[in-house]
Amino acid sequence: SDPAPPVSVEAWRRLARRRLPDLAWNYLDGGADDLVTVNENMAGFLRHRLRQRCLTGVRAPDLSATMAGERVALPIALAPTGAAGLSHWTADVAATRAAERAGTRAVLSTASSYTLEEVAEATEQNHWFQLYPFGNRDKVGALIARARAAGYTALFVTVDVPVVGNREGERTAGMTQPWTLTPPRLLNMARRPGWLHAVFRRRRVAAVHYVERAAEAKAATLAGGLRRAIHGAGDDAIASAENQARYMQGDLHWDDLAWMRDQWQGPLYVKGVLDPDDAAQAVDRIGADGIVVSNHGGRQLDRTLAAIDALPAIVARVGDRAEVYLDGGVRRGTDVVTALCLGARGVFIGRPYLYGLAVAGEAGGAVILEIFRAELERALVLMGCPGVGSLDRSWLAQRPGDTP
Ligand code: FNR
Repeated sequence: SDPAPPVSVEAWRRLARRRLPDLAWNYLDGGADDLVTVNENMAGFLRHRLRQRCLTGVRAPDLSATMAGERVALPIALAPTGAAGLSHWTADVAATRAAERAGTRAVLSTASSYTLEEVAEATEQNHWFQLYPFGNRDKVGALIARARAAGYTALFVTVDVPVVGNREGERTAGMTQPWTLTPPRLLNMARRPGWLHAVFRRRRVAAVHYVERAAEAKAATLAGGLRRAIHGAGDDAIASAENQARYMQGDLHWDDLAWMRDQWQGPLYVKGVLDPDDAAQAVDRIGADGIVVSNHGGRQLDRTLAAIDALPAIVARVGDRAEVYLDGGVRRGTDVVTALCLGARGVFIGRPYLYGLAVAGEAGGAVILEIFRAELERALVLMGCPGVGSLDRSWLAQRPGDTP
């Protein structure tokens, strides 16, 4: 019989690390520069302390919440991750189904491994779509129309990728565009047959939302990547310019966001905001329904504030009239509690569910969400808190020397 599954997100992370070759691991788990923000995202939560009330009689706290207009069983949804196919061939389909099993939702990335129609077809609920405003308005408008036609109910516009962050780990491991596959890197992959089997069951590792011409589409496929890797990739500058075309236009401005707001009638959230002035612009000038406070999991500008440290000022600025969410560094049920105490309506997780997919596909993603659910529930019982809707600053305890 199977050994018991690992008990924590960190334990799943260690398992995923063993299973993945360096190229995939550095892409999925890595970050920018010195990983200051990657680490700070997690460390930021550790500076807060929770209040414990006893003999409250709370046994089954209410974990349900409303996120992006949908009732969800827990205030945790899946953040968009591009090229999730590097963790498991079932990628976005598996992640979205795992979210459904847990009674929550997933945000599908513009850089997904399955097309938005394929994911909609393979799942029951309406999910959410993340938009990288790449290329020009024609292309963005067409993608928004596709998302609407396929039944996605909320749009998350990611604004923190005017250029791709300096991910040195990725580059060192050969995760360039296309991959640079030297003999040692190929050997490193060959020594992980479980991963090869889990990933290469399907030819594509990238969907083609942002690619129109067949020739470009080919480059986005695994076969194309391998072919070009073997025949020589061309210089770095070309590779990164190509790469860039898939994220967002570098010269994007608030007026472009206003235009997107006009194109999309449902709830719209701006993802990747860290500054209260930007949050106010998005809400008051553009009419965004909310903000995802995020530094892209520390993959963009290193040495930004940790997401949890950026949250309070944004809640103070727009929390009375907009939904504020957070992602980055959420690894424990108690992290979720802390974010909700500081005013987040819910949180998103990125890397944790990718660890689950890497180890066990959809079932792994489902276990990760179950770990979070169980940890969140247990934390609330131990705190004596009746439900996530009750969490506010009064549930944080002051340490000696803390400024209240
Ligand atoms: C991401 N993230 C991301 N964000 C986005 O808006 N579009 C995308 O395509 C991607 N792609 C992506 C790939 C990978 C491998 C990771 C790890 C992350 C960022 C993601 O949505 C989220 O902001 C962070 O992952 C949250 O941090 P944690 O939970 O990973 O610490």
